[in-house]
Amino acid sequence: MHLRTLVLICVLSLAFGQDRKITPLLNPDCKACSSNTTLVYIKAEGSHNTIHQLWDFTRGTPTIIYAVAGVNSSLQVEWAHDKPVKFNMSEEPSYSFAMAISEIYEYNDLEDRGHPNSSTKFRRYPLKELNWARQDSVLTEQEAMLVMQADKYSRHRNGTVAIKLDLLPFRDYATLLPHLIHTANSTLIDVQLANLTQSRDFNASRFALRLILVASDANGTLSRRVEKSLDDEHTPGVFEIIEIKTPRCVTTGAGGYMQFRPVAYTQKERSVTSSTVVHVSDFNSTHIVLPNTLSRFYPDIDEMLIEDMIVSFGEPQDGFYRQHNYTAWSTTFGYGAPPVETFSLFVILVITIGLSVPVLLALSGVVYVVSRRCRHGNEPTRLREE
Ligand SMILES: *[C@@H]1O[C@H](CO)[C@@H](O)[C@H](O)[C@H]1NC(C)=O
Ligand SMILES: *[C@@H]1O[C@H](CO)[C@@H](O)[C@H](O)[C@H]1NC(C)=O
Ligand SMILES: *[C@@H]1O[C@H](CO)[C@@H](O)[C@H](O)[C@H]1NC(C)=O
Ligand SMILES: *[C@@H]1O[C@H](CO)[C@@H](O)[C@H](O)[C@H]1NC(C)=O
Ligand SMILES: *[C@@H]1O[C@H](CO)[C@@H](O)[C@H](O)[C@H]1NC(C)=O
Ligand SMILES: *[C@@H]1O[C@H](CO)[C@@H](O)[C@H](O)[C@H]1NC(C)=O
Ligand SMILES: *[C@@H]1O[C@H](CO)[C@@H](O)[C@H](O)[C@H]1NC(C)=O
Repeated sequence: MHLRTLVLICVLSLAFGQDRKITPLLNPDCKACSSNTTLVYIKAEGSHNTIHQLWDFTRGTPTIIYAVAGVNSSLQVEWAHDKPVKFNMSEEPSYSFAMAISEIYEYNDLEDRGHPNSSTKFRRYPLKELNWARQDSVLTEQEAMLVMQADKYSRHRNGTVAIKLDLLPFRDYATLLPHLIHTANSTLIDVQLANLTQSRDFNASRFALRLILVASDANGTLSRRVEKSLDDEHTPGVFEIIEIKTPRCVTTGAGGYMQFRPVAYTQKERSVTSSTVVHVSDFNSTHIVLPNTLSRFYPDIDEMLIEDMIVSFGEPQDGFYRQHNYTAWSTTFGYGAPPVETFSLFVILVITIGLSVPVLLALSGVVYVVSRRCRHGNEPTRLREE
């Protein structure tokens, strides 16, 4: 009896407990930091390794760094006034990868295609010039969450750029549409571009984000795959999921990945009717200048894989950005194999019923035919006997 209770508790705690123990810290060891400085360091201890995560906004460019090392490893940040200048790890990380949102692109989509092409005119606004304010944060052992907001995206351009980062150390669907799957190994990233000033000489303005991805996979290139999902239960109307994987993630399932739905929302209330299409450009690795924090974390860039890509938002006939002056996009950024969506009990029930009804009908038809044959076959004998 006691043993059974014990087993039950073990199973329950495995199912609902945390997969990693997280310890988030704001500006660790920084003496000169004010409320304007935001660098969150999260140590996520697992049974086989520890993931060290950095969320850095100290130099404007939003940057996320993952470093995977031994269970007992540690990371220390050295500061020069309120800027991080050196990252010391107690041991060489076995794997590391990072992402920076380096620029906002404004493009003039005269052909109303939704996404830019080689002839599209565009302007670039580096995010390193943004002044971020910490809007909200939760830094506990159950959750690490940070909301950052900037009220200008360039010196003469108003608008609200908001970024929410959220690490929940267990597997579940995110509460907000598109309900991406987060795990203990991944962080949810949500970007909102609201009321951005548009160029007067562009009459078809749309916005895009330039992401720089870095990984310690020296040989190889990032890969992008569009997976089809069988049902759209969690993201109504969207049957695709885009996965960006590092070479290590493709070969061994222990590398970096991004996973997102090709959908963005044009209104605060997210729904099928307020959605638009997300388009991802090809990767490019020429002439990439690493943002400052990344180049400090990765002093040997020759040994790194560095590529960028443009994520743009819009579809033909949606009225361009000015229709709603709002775009929100979510992605996850994680380590390991990207989570695979499974059928829920409801869908399994529907499929079971859907499949079993025709089978039952067919079976009953067979039974009917066979029983009729038998009866017909019997009749003459009975007649003859009479
Ligand atoms: C934070 O930044 C704002 C705007 O850049 C500035 O006005 C304010 O003085 C800063 N606060 C501190 C504590 O440095
Ligand atoms: C980590 O530290 C704990 C306690 O200090 C020790 O028992 C354990 O063997 C260490 N693990 C490794 C892999 O070094
Ligand atoms: C997280 O990564 C570890 C390996 O570092 C792996 O064992 C574990 O299954 C992963 N968890 C999830 C939910 O993917
Ligand atoms: C954008 O502007 C609209 C209308 O002026 C306003 O209602 C809304 O709150 C603004 N959004 C943000 C995020 O500031
Ligand atoms: C934008 O302006 C160009 C000419 O300047 C015009 O040909 C085009 O039709 C306009 N597009 C829209 C969507 O208004
Ligand atoms: C890659 O970027 C460089 C420099 O920004 C640019 O000249 C080149 O056209 C890009 N290549 C592709 C395939 O987009
Ligand atoms: C969006 O902004 C533009 C100019 O910045 C304005 O003309 C337009 O009416 C705004 N659209 C909405 C839906 O508020």
